[in-house]
Amino acid sequence: MTSPAPSASAASTPQPEHTPVFDTAARRSAPHELLGLTSPAYGGDYNPEQWDEATLAEDLELMAEAGVNLVSLGIFSWARLEPREGTYELDWLVELVGRLHDAGIAVDLATATASPPAWMATDHPESLPMTADGVRLGLGSRQQYCPSSTVYRERSTALTRVLAERLGEHPGVVMWHIGNEYGCHTAECFCPACAQAFRAWLAGRYGDVERLNAAWGTDFWSQRYTSLEQVTPPAAMPTFHNPAQLLDWRRFCDHQLRSLMEAEARILREHSNLPVTTNFMGDFPATDYWRWADSLDIVSDDSYPDPADPAAAHEVAWAGDLMRGLAGGRPWILMEQAPSAVQWRGRNSPKRPGQLLLWSLARVAHGADGILQFQWRQSRQGAETFHSGMVPHAGRASRTWDEVVATGRALKRLGPVLGEPVRAEAAVVLDWESQWAMSSAIGPVELGERFEAARAWHRSLWETGIATDVVPVGAELTGYRLIIVPAVFIDRPELARHLEQAAAVDAQVVVAGPTGVVDAGAEAVLGGYLGSLRPLLGVRVTDHAALSGPVGPEGFNNDSRGVLVNRLSRAVGTPAAETWTGLEPIGEPLRRVLDRMGSPAPELRAGGWAEEIRVDEAPGDAEAAQSRESAEAVAVFDDRGGGADLAGRPAITRRAVGSAGAAWYVAADLDAVSRAALLTLVCAHARVRPVVADLPDGVEAQRRGEILFLLNHGDRAAEVTGIVGTDLLTGQVCTGHVVLAPRSALVVRENTR
Ligand code: GLA
Ligand code: ZN
Repeated sequence: MTSPAPSASAASTPQPEHTPVFDTAARRSAPHELLGLTSPAYGGDYNPEQWDEATLAEDLELMAEAGVNLVSLGIFSWARLEPREGTYELDWLVELVGRLHDAGIAVDLATATASPPAWMATDHPESLPMTADGVRLGLGSRQQYCPSSTVYRERSTALTRVLAERLGEHPGVVMWHIGNEYGCHTAECFCPACAQAFRAWLAGRYGDVERLNAAWGTDFWSQRYTSLEQVTPPAAMPTFHNPAQLLDWRRFCDHQLRSLMEAEARILREHSNLPVTTNFMGDFPATDYWRWADSLDIVSDDSYPDPADPAAAHEVAWAGDLMRGLAGGRPWILMEQAPSAVQWRGRNSPKRPGQLLLWSLARVAHGADGILQFQWRQSRQGAETFHSGMVPHAGRASRTWDEVVATGRALKRLGPVLGEPVRAEAAVVLDWESQWAMSSAIGPVELGERFEAARAWHRSLWETGIATDVVPVGAELTGYRLIIVPAVFIDRPELARHLEQAAAVDAQVVVAGPTGVVDAGAEAVLGGYLGSLRPLLGVRVTDHAALSGPVGPEGFNNDSRGVLVNRLSRAVGTPAAETWTGLEPIGEPLRRVLDRMGSPAPELRAGGWAEEIRVDEAPGDAEAAQSRESAEAVAVFDDRGGGADLAGRPAITRRAVGSAGAAWYVAADLDAVSRAALLTLVCAHARVRPVVADLPDGVEAQRRGEILFLLNHGDRAAEVTGIVGTDLLTGQVCTGHVVLAPRSALVVRENTR
């Protein structure tokens, strides 16, 4: 070795690179205050440049009929606003804002930078994005810009400035809509400009090439660099990329996109006091929305659950709880949903009768103070011709229109909900960087790109009726009675500290693997995974055991007759070729839960992966041992299925903490039944109860302040008892017993609680 290797600790303390545009956390108000709303915002994307004057006049009448009070304007208008580079034509937009304002419709004004005009592609072809294979993407769809492009950056900020100067004080504009769905189509670009920007970003992070070498472990496969100039984006390569390089690349790509949004936000701030937002896409994997949210006044979301998915209502709940978390517990705005079908799935199912209103109310129940759709009027040309609109091709004589009007009417009555908080005693921890690190790692298990573990645990809580917050890894956690840490792949010492504090005041902490497997630099945690969570959990993970799923009747040999002659291999067992593994409860409490779930009692099962764990012994010295219980097994692997080689070893453990707290570890990918069983037990310890107990199938309950939402997602009418109050939607008084029609809701201001 010629040059001395820098110490690992120097390399693992890279420069901070995140400075929010403004610290909104402290000063962020509720959207209804910022927007001057007296009932939830209602409306959609409005693209009148696709239509003529007569249609525009009709739009204003129909918007009044539907109760629209907010539209997003100009999202894809750049080509009209700056038809030639540096030549602006804004009069038409100003006139439009005026007409909408006169009609009592407020404008969420886009900075119009989501899709550059043709001149940018033709006059500045280097502004077009490049794929990992070196292909420049062309003009003719949308979002065809490289996030590092100088000309894109100059022209987009110039347009933002022109709009802010001209319309920033117009009484018809109430907020700014920066860009549109950053990263939706172009989340990464491998062009020379991005390569250069990546190197500059790495120089800022590591200072010099030796620290980068240490952080990326470049002694592996002879990847050592002698100059930062040699470093490239992880474009197409012969085989596996360096996981640390991939992880930094994802950080960089997020940073590049975010810096575009922040540059526009800064300009808007200079010229206008209006709140700013950009539309998120739920748990979109490429962008760390915890960071993005810091620079926004209002959190807003685009969400398109598939009506053909029985768990679509969970998607609504998950996105809502996540957005509320991103907004720091405050309300947020649904910026886009489909009035009925989308056009971009293989099969595009329409919303079922009643579902537009039901899901809109579900979003309000999870913290939305505004419900907007994509889009106001269904396009008659272009790629979205067959995406539903609030005004469909058929016009007013349509179910969609009737439902749009009904939804507008219902929302008008929900003024009392505005600003009201959702209070949850359970929390699920979500960490984008961990998702990135897990996706960047080559192995140990495939878990997907979209927080599959977090979604699964959140869904189990939702199916049980328990209100849940979604929180970042850095959050203070005392106050929650139940905290779930699902597949937080990066070891986060701060999280461990907050979990210890919460458990010490009686919270139940449930950690599910694979958690704490690498550090923030993608370097493996040594001495047993779980890292800084080991003292709390009292266990360490010593190995991962992935199940490889069905590979034919004879394992890896797919020739079913081979067994007749393969004397050697036919004697070999392959538990890893199973898709599931069996678990055996230990001790009475979990067994009792299973017994109550059905007869015969369901088995505990897991699939996908399992882990070999060891229980750490309590410290030897008596005093320390007293304050530190060791973990006990709640379930072990049995010899059925893929965990056979782990048979008898702990699969779920529990370590008592303080007087009533506990830290549980789940070393397998539990299935829905097993998660439900475990949560029943854990919730009993946590004394966490459903929002409303004993609800019939299909009915969800959520509360905002004193207002109870009862949402019947099911196909049958449902009866609920014990509801006393006034239904805000109908004005009807509920005196105990209520009946909800299929796909309908009640929003009850309760008077006895
Ligand atoms: C996204 C975009 C919209 C539209 C919809 C269609 O959410 O932001 O412009 O394309 O998808 O579903
Ligand atoms: Zn680029």
